[in-house]
Amino acid sequence: MPYTVVVKKDYDELSKHAARVIAERIRVQPDCVLGLATGSTPRGTYHYLIEMHRQGLDFSKVKTFNLDEYLGLGIRLDTPYAQDQSYARFMHEEFLRHINIPAKQINLPVGTVKDPEQFCLQYEEAIHKAGGIDLQLLGIGSDGHWAFNEPGSSFFSRTRVVDLAEQTIEDNYQSFFKDAGFSKDQVPRKAMTMGMATILEARELLMIASGEKKASILAKALQGPVTCKIAASAIQNYSGQATVILDEAAARGLKPSRSEDIAQSCVH
Ligand code: PGA
Repeated sequence: MPYTVVVKKDYDELSKHAARVIAERIRVQPDCVLGLATGSTPRGTYHYLIEMHRQGLDFSKVKTFNLDEYLGLGIRLDTPYAQDQSYARFMHEEFLRHINIPAKQINLPVGTVKDPEQFCLQYEEAIHKAGGIDLQLLGIGSDGHWAFNEPGSSFFSRTRVVDLAEQTIEDNYQSFFKDAGFSKDQVPRKAMTMGMATILEARELLMIASGEKKASILAKALQGPVTCKIAASAIQNYSGQATVILDEAAARGLKPSRSEDIAQSCVH
């Protein structure tokens, strides 16, 4: 099995476990380079990492690179959090401002730059200069995307500007923009994203998914054919160490053969 699947009872347990995997990496390698993700799923992981920091987990030597950002959006600290839907603001509020990581070690794509294409090249170069990503945290979109690598993204792609899929625009509207009072046509349609090759070069991948709504796409990504139509299916051919942490609801779509493997490998 090229990756380990861990099934936890619920979202809270999943989040605790994911935080432990990341914390362990930081303890073993205090100056590690972490790839970070936004979305509703990593919220709990960040919550537990903040708790661990309060109990002594030290982020002072860690470097971070975030996966993606909406084109046109940048952090606006003078604006209420809900009204600033940038991923940079999400990271700041949900995680980064609560830990002791120096600002110069935080790398976030900047959606408001004049030349986004050039910025993407520089971002890729910055990852390279940092020595590559040691551990990349990932969610999975309901269309199977990793970061904003939408269906059809080449596994050889690099950090670049992309068009968002309709499904992603709808998901992000429902999960974030709607409650903040935005209309669907205010959800950005373009973004910057790390590429598939960039992600697959990370030395360790940690994918997390929660809830029944992810069950079907997870089954396709983990047990279906490897295809650029489902970015996350690339995990099947990934050569490094990969861990998939699911809650029981998200694992429900996995076929019995895989479930038997899971039963043997899972840590409840
Ligand atoms: P979600 O998004 O955590 O909000 O479900 C996951 C993703 O798009 O990667």
